[in-house]
Amino acid sequence: MTMLTLGIETSCDETAVSVTRGKDILSNVVSSSVHLHSKYGGVVPEIASRFHLEYITPALKEALIDARVGLDDIELVAVTKEPGLIGSLLVGISMARAVAYSLSIPLVEVNHIIAHIYANLMHNGRLEFPFMGLVVSGGHTQIIWMEDLDKFRVLGETQDDAVGEAFDKVAKILGLGYPGGPIIEKRAINGDPEKIRFPRSFLKEGSLDFSYSGIKTAVLYYVQKQLGHKSQVTSHKSEDTRHKTGGGGLDSKMIDDICAGFQEAAFDMIVDTAVSACRKKKAGALVVGGGVSANKRLREKLTGEAQKWGITVHFPSMDLCLDNAAMIAGLGEALYKKNQN
Ligand code: KG4
Ligand code: ZN
Repeated sequence: MTMLTLGIETSCDETAVSVTRGKDILSNVVSSSVHLHSKYGGVVPEIASRFHLEYITPALKEALIDARVGLDDIELVAVTKEPGLIGSLLVGISMARAVAYSLSIPLVEVNHIIAHIYANLMHNGRLEFPFMGLVVSGGHTQIIWMEDLDKFRVLGETQDDAVGEAFDKVAKILGLGYPGGPIIEKRAINGDPEKIRFPRSFLKEGSLDFSYSGIKTAVLYYVQKQLGHKSQVTSHKSEDTRHKTGGGGLDSKMIDDICAGFQEAAFDMIVDTAVSACRKKKAGALVVGGGVSANKRLREKLTGEAQKWGITVHFPSMDLCLDNAAMIAGLGEALYKKNQN
């Protein structure tokens, strides 16, 4: 039997509340503080937490209204427990515990990364374990061997920046705004991906880990060289100064080419590593999730390469790629039922 489930997600900069019943999404409210972070080129934790505090109650009310249910009808609460910004997580967890306690209903605390993978199962009921999971977002770049929803092993992950973070930082270098992923994808359409070849970083032979800081720095140096700023600023302390050198002086065509070249290199690293992981484990399915999985070029490249090895690639629907609470509610209900059996 399905349960009317309330999902709450506040791990980063989205205050999200959703009501689901099984795989039916009755409401999916996402209130983002992204506009407040744009001038900083990345999420500012203190601003994110304060936004959650302000918007969690309106988001909850809206989710109930959209789903046409009352709070008393809710049978189960699911919330993101980890990973995430602690001040942000606390807002969602406190609300979830309060709701569950006041209604005397069960609460399930779920892993945000596994929820990104579960987003696929909200639409595709036929996925069978085991399969390879790939989460590509602003906070995470991980390859996960999924034996079950509560039995998984991280086979590889980024050793520095996440891929989405690299998109955001490159956009900042180019003065394009935040979040960088969708903007770079758009600019790359008009660019030549072969005009500028940025380095692909592969860690030691056989490793399934990633590194994105090198390519970000390569873009920075390329931009500085084009602008004639040969004296490099390398210390972390001067990160803000570096980014302020910006892409403002570059002509528009060059920005398109940099976006296309960067995107291509960033995705080559993902495609190679994800396909290697699948081949290593003889996985027939690769299940992708996270904000970067909304990128059409990534979808095309991954699907094309995986096909050569007989691997089927699954992506969530566009509305479930980015952070949302429907995937939290869905995973929460699935885990709750699993533990009841
Ligand atoms: O999953 P998500 O909403 O939050 C995290 O859990 O991190 O992912 C947000 C990230 C941002 O870094 C954003 O730039 C990136 O996903 N992103 C994209 C695209 N849409 C969002 N990156 C590349 N192409 C896109 N179309
Ligand atoms: Zn996420």
